[in-house]
Amino acid sequence: MVRTKIAGIGKYLPKTIVKNDDLQSVMETSDEWIQERTGIQERRYGIKHEETTTTMAAHAARTAIERAGITPNDVDFILFATLSPDYYFPGCGVLLQRELGITKTTIGAMDIRNQCTGFVYGLATGDQFIRSGMYRNVLVVGAEMHSMGLDYSTRGRNVTVIFGDGAGAVLLQPTEEADQGILASKLHSDGTYAEKLAFINPGAHGGYHNRYLEEAVDYGYGNDAFGGIFLTEKMIADGMTFPYMDGPFVFKFAVQKFPEVIQEVLKEAGENLSNLDMLVPHQANLRISQFVQRILKLRDDQVWNNIQKYGNTTAASVPIALCEAVEEGAIKRGDLVCLAAFGSGFTWGANLLRW
Ligand code: UT7
Repeated sequence: MVRTKIAGIGKYLPKTIVKNDDLQSVMETSDEWIQERTGIQERRYGIKHEETTTTMAAHAARTAIERAGITPNDVDFILFATLSPDYYFPGCGVLLQRELGITKTTIGAMDIRNQCTGFVYGLATGDQFIRSGMYRNVLVVGAEMHSMGLDYSTRGRNVTVIFGDGAGAVLLQPTEEADQGILASKLHSDGTYAEKLAFINPGAHGGYHNRYLEEAVDYGYGNDAFGGIFLTEKMIADGMTFPYMDGPFVFKFAVQKFPEVIQEVLKEAGENLSNLDMLVPHQANLRISQFVQRILKLRDDQVWNNIQKYGNTTAASVPIALCEAVEEGAIKRGDLVCLAAFGSGFTWGANLLRW
């Protein structure tokens, strides 16, 4: 039976370290608050004008491609997960193709708009392409340059202190090995709470979804058949062009959905928790990971956390954490590994694999 294996993995973290105290110099926050509520000590920011979501992805992708023993031109398909794309359109997939110097046009490139769950969705999608026989070398990337789009005033502190920049990538290939590869994936969504964690403006909604907003404001989107407005001066003045999160609401859902989907994917593959060697959860908040660990009764060495160093890197967090765990020898050939994520949408999901 053909399965999909991760033939190569890579990560990239920009060099600039931003400590909690650095944020304290621009907004009302404190190292104590941030560490107590999230576990985060520092995060990385890309260098403006030099680094973008795509360039960071390219660093991670080159490592993954090299470790798989192929060259960029051997890649058949790119799946790119991000919520902080370089452009509104085209997506980062084609920009990554160009950045990697892939000139052949038989390749396909697709962007995934699933925020924190983007990489888990991407892995499940790439797995289908490989197992169907359509492609042999699928590159799945999660990358974010959050630091370009955050509100650095006190108004945005509940969101801004959490996020960091970075990228992770895997190169998927088919394998006939019985004890290796992706065993199962489970994907979920619930659009009921779309606005609870969202980046709404600029957008083409024209106020249509206002009834779902806690405080709906008429930004003067235009009423004529022509000339609707994406972005108004008032949106900018009101700080409505930044991410919004109802933190406590999202937290409650996350701690419920993580354990559920982890159990589900184990069941789908006919495995159980006692066989799990490593859980690599999306790094949303250390308190969420600890809560999930307690509920599932996992030991410390069964859960990988690195949010302390990198913050929440959204679509990049799972591949960065997986890569780090592999590089540090915490995940070895044959280990049963579960990747799980929850985030904006809401969307959530998990992949189970044998390394
Ligand atoms: O990755 C995608 C999924 N995301 C998540 O799963 C995130 C889930 N949510 C969370 O992680 C937490 O809700 C946060 C870390 C975002 C916030 O922690 P919290 O304990 O839920 O705080 P809160 O939003 O309830 O705010 C408590 C207080 C408020 O002050 P008052 O109203 O009690 O006076 C906030 O204004 O903390 C204040 N606050 C801050 N104070 C210092 C909010 N952000 C900050 C800050 N520094 N950065």
